[in-house]
Amino acid sequence: MKDEFPDHFLFGGAISASQAEGAYNEGGKGLDTQDLRYFDPEWTAEDLAKKSNRRMSKKKFDKALNDKDIEHYPFRHGIDFYHTYHQDLALMQELGLRVFRTSISWSRIFPNGDDETPNEEGIAFYDRLFSECHQRGMKVFVTILHYNIPVHLVLAYGGWKSRKTVRFFERYVDVLFHRLGRLVDYWLPFNEFNAGRFNPYNGVCVIKDEEKEYDQTIFQCLHHQFLANAIAVKKAHEIIPNAKVGGMIARFTTYPATCKPDDVMQMIHDDQYANFFYTDVMARGAYPAYMDRYFDRYGITVHKEPGDDELLKGNTVDFLSFSYYMSLVSTTDQSWEKTAGNLVMANKNPYLESSQWGWQIDPVGLRITLNQMYDRYGLPLFVAENGLGAKDTIADDGGIHDPYRIDYLSKHIEQLKKAIGDGVDLFGYTVWGIIDIVSCGSMEMEKRYGVIYVDFDNRGHGTGKRLKKDSFYWYQHCIRTNGRDLSR
Ligand code: BG6
Repeated sequence: MKDEFPDHFLFGGAISASQAEGAYNEGGKGLDTQDLRYFDPEWTAEDLAKKSNRRMSKKKFDKALNDKDIEHYPFRHGIDFYHTYHQDLALMQELGLRVFRTSISWSRIFPNGDDETPNEEGIAFYDRLFSECHQRGMKVFVTILHYNIPVHLVLAYGGWKSRKTVRFFERYVDVLFHRLGRLVDYWLPFNEFNAGRFNPYNGVCVIKDEEKEYDQTIFQCLHHQFLANAIAVKKAHEIIPNAKVGGMIARFTTYPATCKPDDVMQMIHDDQYANFFYTDVMARGAYPAYMDRYFDRYGITVHKEPGDDELLKGNTVDFLSFSYYMSLVSTTDQSWEKTAGNLVMANKNPYLESSQWGWQIDPVGLRITLNQMYDRYGLPLFVAENGLGAKDTIADDGGIHDPYRIDYLSKHIEQLKKAIGDGVDLFGYTVWGIIDIVSCGSMEMEKRYGVIYVDFDNRGHGTGKRLKKDSFYWYQHCIRTNGRDLSR
């Protein structure tokens, strides 16, 4: 096995519907849970860190429901991709992308979530979008649910707290597979399955102050999502010949802070609870034994119905994927220095540098992660998200010079090659936020990941013009050489 990419390795780019599309009340779309997240452009970085948008309160939720404002709700405008996808896909074709990952807005297809019939305008939009991807030589990788569920499902049923939502999800995927199945190459029922735990409003749409037993509720919601995931796998395999359906987590790879056995044990637990629980259920089809201790310790009882275990067992995923931005450190030492992470507070690793948002940059950790996942599951792997969020500026010469992003991407792609040399079956890699989009965690537009710049600021003001950054030309060359030349 050589340290090189196979021919046709799927180099690509990824975005999500709520962070990009905008047009939140057009084309028959219903209001969704991400449309309700409030952002004040005056907030400082410190305010943002304190506000912790992870926890939606009933007060914020109700206020947003009746608020018609757009400026303070960034997911209502995104980058206007709903209207600009044609020109954006042209840029992605120029870039040479071989695969494009985006998500479908559930509330474009079923505005309320429990509607009897789908919204044809929503289906037509995704039909046009995916068809155009193929015309431009890109495969289509679809996330069925990237956080945003129809608000009505939360109001009427409590969202994922109810098994009824599993049934509505089944109706939703049934329509997607029948109507769009011919246009989609890879399906991912859920973005970052573990988000329910580290970001409960996004992941399972739970409003904190409505819950007496917050953790109990979250695990029950997660169980319902596991069922929904298994149903999606089952239906895809029945409806679309050769469908490939994957499972995904946000991979929080973690190292013991020292070789002290207690730190190593802590690392094993952190890995099990934050990462492996989710991929074990999706890929092995059963709740792992180590969760019994966790459930006992925190007094959690997951209510299952007859047939649930069989459904999970009989419908495991075809491949696994993950987002990877950084690595973490595990220790029993409570006084260990802290830093920020992807919606988690992390222990600082003295050997690593951090991004402007404090996320610890660790390219070798990506190779480690790929090896760990392939050793454990032996399934084909796809890196669904990786990239650097940074502040970019337009220079006097009109260019956007982002050597930091080129440095980040090239070092991570180098490690992909090494993982392939290690024997890992890796078939694709999509740069997160290939075009600048609204940040999911901090909701800022100015936390940019793209190799394509979008001229909007944190208020959503600007021309919306698309500009190629230096990293655009670099990634284009990387793809043209099939990852052989990563020189900067
Ligand atoms: C992942 C999410 O967790 O991280 C994306 O799937 C998100 O939606 C990405 O955008 C980067 O996080 P952020 O907060 O910088 O946008």
